[in-house]
Amino acid sequence: MNKIGVIFDLDGVIVDTAKYHFLAWKDLADHLGFEFTEAHNELLKGVSRVRSLEILLDIGNIELSEEKKQEYLVSKNDHYLEYIYKMGPEEILPGANELLNTLDALGIPYVLGSASKNAPLILKQVGLFNRFAGIVDGNSVSKAKPDPEVFLIGAQKLHLLPEQCVVFEDAIAGVEAANRAHMISVGIGDAKTLHEADFNFNSLTEIPDNFIEMLMRKTAEIQ
Ligand code: BG6
Ligand code: MG
Repeated sequence: MNKIGVIFDLDGVIVDTAKYHFLAWKDLADHLGFEFTEAHNELLKGVSRVRSLEILLDIGNIELSEEKKQEYLVSKNDHYLEYIYKMGPEEILPGANELLNTLDALGIPYVLGSASKNAPLILKQVGLFNRFAGIVDGNSVSKAKPDPEVFLIGAQKLHLLPEQCVVFEDAIAGVEAANRAHMISVGIGDAKTLHEADFNFNSLTEIPDNFIEMLMRKTAEIQ
């Protein structure tokens, strides 16, 4: 069997924070006087905070000074953090703990590869921070997903080649980043939306028991 490592996206794979991003962005849209729907919120998944604000302002057809943008980025995040500080282990998505247990049992290392600058805090809130061999977050990258940078740094932290890394992602931009990094991409969520992924599951609970061992054999064949 070959050595592999896993890189997890955070939001939408380990925890569902999209609902809190939605509430905080919607509050800003209300303040600016336009409607922001859950469908609009889909466009922000996997996207950096700064890019999220740009998309939001495009939806509202609003132009702002750099100074105002900075002000809203801070106030949106302050609002978002009010929800994050209330999070606990009960918000870990179904199947995540079981998958981490499987990886531990097989001796497979895993790191985080997230666009969020709040990723370390969120992992601490849900009690998973110490389980990860490394964290790559929005503070460690200069280029956002779909650029592969976040996952390539993850591979370095795992001391593995990109081809030996498996990425779990719920966002189109994240699957694209994993594919551009020449990693094995596993889409978690709607298979039609994430059709570019190498494998698809609706949720982590649907991953078969032997999936990880199958990937170990598959990467051994490739190398
Ligand atoms: C990603 C989310 O994980 O993190 C995006 O999917 C979010 O919706 C991005 O915009 C940045 O998050 P944060 O916590 O740095 O504002
Ligand atoms: Mg995500």
